Amino acid sequence: MNKAELLYSGKAKSVYHTDNPDFMILEFRDDTSAFDGKKKAALARKGAVNNQFNAFVMEKLAAAGIPTHFEKQLSANESLVRKLTMLPVECVVRNRAAGSLVRRLGVEEGQTLSPPVFEFFLKNDDLGDPMINDAHILTFGWATAEQIAGMKALTLAVNDVLLKLFADGGMILVDYKLEFGMFKGELVLGDEFSPDGCRLWDSKTLEKMDKDRFRQDLGNVIEAYEEVGRRIGIEFQ
Ligand code: TMP
Ligand code: ASP
Repeated sequence: MNKAELLYSGKAKSVYHTDNPDFMILEFRDDTSAFDGKKKAALARKGAVNNQFNAFVMEKLAAAGIPTHFEKQLSANESLVRKLTMLPVECVVRNRAAGSLVRRLGVEEGQTLSPPVFEFFLKNDDLGDPMINDAHILTFGWATAEQIAGMKALTLAVNDVLLKLFADGGMILVDYKLEFGMFKGELVLGDEFSPDGCRLWDSKTLEKMDKDRFRQDLGNVIEAYEEVGRRIGIEFQ
């Protein structure tokens, strides 16, 4: 499938049309952003690392029966995906307290959350991705009741697969964010799964191995992403 014109350029990925209207190509760039685009940098190897990381995780999720948009990796930093109509919400699951949950509720960072906490956020950088609930989503028409139920079920099904995958590599999956879209009437996992959109701590030392290294200027950001990848069995090109 040939790469055609640019459809959209986001904070870390560019999206291209292909000659088939059902598919598009994701190009993972080295650009990194945090705090709704307020902090930015280019980090060498990041595009290739996140593309390969995402391909590996999406294939694990598909093998566990979760519908994803991922088709195949095309090059070190490009992948072919199905073209979804995205729902404008972000689905977050938290297994440990961190980030905005700690700031919002004043709970202790690292506290185990049982059962895990599910939260919706509105995908809107200008508003700082505010937390929203089912009522907002229904009333403003961002998704239907069926899509809400489907997103919750799939996001929690992903937790079962990934908690174990990372635990086997000596890491705690603290929290993560997923985005969904529709493809010919089916709810499908879209966007990406990489250390940019989750928190991962070393199980023993609790060292941060995710984008908090960039947010908090801890250094060795991509080295940590590569270490996470190696621990779950990725052989980077
Ligand atoms: P938070 O603690 O900032 O609410 O984020 C929870 C998790 O979701 C964390 O792993 C980062 C991820 N996330 C994103 O990647 N993008 C977003 O826009 C949001 C709201 C969360
Ligand atoms: N991923 C979101 C952003 O780029 C949130 C964050 O990383 O702080 O703004």
